[in-house]
Amino acid sequence: QIPLIIDTDPGIDDAVAIALAVFNPRFDVRLITTVAGNVSIEATTTNALKLMAYYGKDVPVARGAAEPLIRQLDDASDIHGKTGMEGFDFPEPKTELLLDKHAVEAMRDEIMASAEPVTVMPIGPLTNIALLLKTFPEVKSRIERIVLMGGSVTRGNKGVMAEFNIFVDPEAAKIVLTSGLDITMATLDAGLGTVIPPEKTAQLKDMGKVGLMAHDLFQRYRKRSFGTGLKMYDACAVACLLEPDLFDMTKAFVDVEIAGELTAGCTVVDLKGYLKREPNATVTTGVHADRFCDWFMDGIAHCA
Ligand code: BDR
Ligand code: CA
Repeated sequence: QIPLIIDTDPGIDDAVAIALAVFNPRFDVRLITTVAGNVSIEATTTNALKLMAYYGKDVPVARGAAEPLIRQLDDASDIHGKTGMEGFDFPEPKTELLLDKHAVEAMRDEIMASAEPVTVMPIGPLTNIALLLKTFPEVKSRIERIVLMGGSVTRGNKGVMAEFNIFVDPEAAKIVLTSGLDITMATLDAGLGTVIPPEKTAQLKDMGKVGLMAHDLFQRYRKRSFGTGLKMYDACAVACLLEPDLFDMTKAFVDVEIAGELTAGCTVVDLKGYLKREPNATVTTGVHADRFCDWFMDGIAHCA
């Protein structure tokens, strides 16, 4: 089993990625930490607790950063809806799972107490992870690796050049990427290839409670793509951990543009070694779409 901490801003695709992790026996999900991103920290935290209630799971949840390190939060409620998980009736949040400490402290405690090194899977802006590494640097030697959804090799989905999770908190992303830790980036480029076609999405509603939830949420999420094929961004991080062969990957030096007038939040992935820097990340450059789709559908079928 992979001891795992999920740092998340649920978020429709986050909800699905969390299901694929908590129902998979290959993971031991120890902690879920929330961050402001798709919607406010109040909403992402409530959503994480609602997901635990709906999934019937008891993973502790710790509330994290309410704002990016320096910038104002620019959320994605236009895509995920006002609550962040619009389109499905969830049960009341399981508030008893909410820890009485900040996400950064909860991560430190979990990582330092663990007998084995812990893997961290951030699928939202990297604010909490940057704060963790700066506040408690002793955790670095106890983190197995960071497998995150964020960044892009080519262009963006929020700014022209910036992927949403990095766009929201570029300074945090820079801290994480330059931390020296073993980092894998499930990028937008891979995510864009993970198209779940309409005939598969239609099947979801008869595939148990997670399938039904995913079906209903997806009708609301990126409405236009429900008919043309849905892209599973955050699930790519789960797939990178379990089935890395589904992706084309390369090691590269990656940094984050934090000063650019037009490009803030752009991940600069030096595929050709122009900057003469050692690689600091493994980057997905593409995905085997059909195989990903099979993996995804099979994963949802096993969420029970
Ligand atoms: C990322 O942005 C968010 O809206 C999604 O949840 C995902 O983490 C994709 O760019
Ligand atoms: Ca997310």
